[in-house]
Amino acid sequence: MQGMDDRLIAIEKQFGRSHLEQIKEPFIQAQGLELWIKRDDLLHPIISGNKWRKLKYCLADALALNAHTLISMGGAYSNHLHALAYVGKLLGLKTVGLIRGERPAILNATLADLESWGMRLQFVSRTAYRELRQYKTPDGLPDLQTGEYWLPEGGAMSLALQGVRALVSEIDRPYDVLCVPCGTATTLAGCVCAVSEDKQVLGFAAFKGARYLSAEVENLINFSACHNKRWFIHLDYHFGGFAKKNTDLLQFIDKFEQQHDIPLEPIYTGKMLYGLYDLIQKGYFVSGQKIIAVHTGGLQGNRAVL
Ligand SMILES: Cc1ncc(COP(=O)(O)O)c(C=O)c1O
Repeated sequence: MQGMDDRLIAIEKQFGRSHLEQIKEPFIQAQGLELWIKRDDLLHPIISGNKWRKLKYCLADALALNAHTLISMGGAYSNHLHALAYVGKLLGLKTVGLIRGERPAILNATLADLESWGMRLQFVSRTAYRELRQYKTPDGLPDLQTGEYWLPEGGAMSLALQGVRALVSEIDRPYDVLCVPCGTATTLAGCVCAVSEDKQVLGFAAFKGARYLSAEVENLINFSACHNKRWFIHLDYHFGGFAKKNTDLLQFIDKFEQQHDIPLEPIYTGKMLYGLYDLIQKGYFVSGQKIIAVHTGGLQGNRAVL
């Protein structure tokens, strides 16, 4: 970790270990498959899952540039802003969150956490929010002042891919397929660039109509001079849209949690695992394949959706 800021190293030293856990189910074994979960949710209670992976090198960049303020955007339940506000506080940096929609009379648990950790919340109209999505580089936001550092929605910048590499390099078992849930698909792009070319990376979109994600992944991976073409994003497991859910999904999550003692949330990892189970049942994989699915954390979101 040469050149990494000491403050980030100190934070990372307190992290838990993200191990691999095998999911044993007769229907998986009957197909000659193995399914393992990479427990990135165990890294940290707040900067959990893919949050640290994506933020680490962006934060290192901000610190190297002597930034004093981190500014980013997200919805009212954003895991990204939740992690950013917390880590900003740990690093002694100011944070500003541009939040989609109007300020509610009573802040939900996520927004209350952001404020309690010192993040200045600025509510923006849905139109203005959509426009903010065009600013993709740390100096891209108009009217930034010296010392202010911009992180696009979900921390979707090319520096984020470097942190995701660590997730992949921690996998200490042979495998054929790596699965991740997709919001901005930055985590997927990081995995695509980090795996060896004999492996396939599968994404599961959390949004409806997420066909546009493939172009976003192409952009991110081209920027990293990565030529791996063995990736695909499944678009049909969104359950009606972002954060939408139905009884089927909730029952699946309940059963999974009881059988395997692994907590899930219904926005990202829950939908991915539902999709993965469905694909396995439909005979999508080839006997003998070993599949690893990444638990990307985000359990704080359960306070809103369950
Ligand atoms: C818990 C969780 N999982 C998965 C994702 C999707 O990650 P990405 O935006 O890199 O596709 C997010 C959003 O950042 C998230 O909060």
